[in-house]
Amino acid sequence: MTIFPFSFKPNYVVFFVFAAIFFAALALPGHANSANQTNLGYPINKWVVHVVNQMGASKTLVAHCKSKDDDLGIRDVLPGNEFNWSFKENFGGTTLFWCNIHNNHQHANFQVFWHEDETKSSWLHYRCNWKECFWVVKDGGIYIT
Ligand SMILES: *[C@@H]1O[C@H](CO)[C@@H](O)[C@H](O)[C@H]1NC(C)=O
Ligand SMILES: *[C@@H]1O[C@H](CO)[C@@H](O)[C@H](O)[C@H]1NC(C)=O
Repeated sequence: MTIFPFSFKPNYVVFFVFAAIFFAALALPGHANSANQTNLGYPINKWVVHVVNQMGASKTLVAHCKSKDDDLGIRDVLPGNEFNWSFKENFGGTTLFWCNIHNNHQHANFQVFWHEDETKSSWLHYRCNWKECFWVVKDGGIYIT
């Protein structure tokens, strides 16, 4: 007795179902568990990093953010404004962005995005709510909110 129609062999049907689930999982990030979009071990969601100038009165922030592959240029961020960009993680798990920032008096160099293996830590992913990281530069320091 066969429960499979036409000339499909069971293996093909199983393969089809598996392939359909696999591609559906890739195509619908976060479908199964809304916020987490690392499916099947592949980082596929789009991230946005924001660098926000909340320093005191009329202090312009100069931000120079980069990854190994991208130089995002030197940006003047006016008080109350921000600089942002979006990207997808590479499949090698080596994504890393950092920023050099300064105002007239102070200078800092810090990482704003790095790859996280959620089996070990989701410190950054959690703070970015699995989509957007807000780095806020204030007079007293740099905060992720
Ligand atoms: C999924 O995301 C939630 C927050 O939306 C987080 O608390 C949870 O640890 C994540 N689970 C996994 C398996 O990554
Ligand atoms: C990115 O920053 C610009 C201002 O430079 C702002 O207009 C835009 O809304 C920001 N994008 C996002 C996704 O917040």
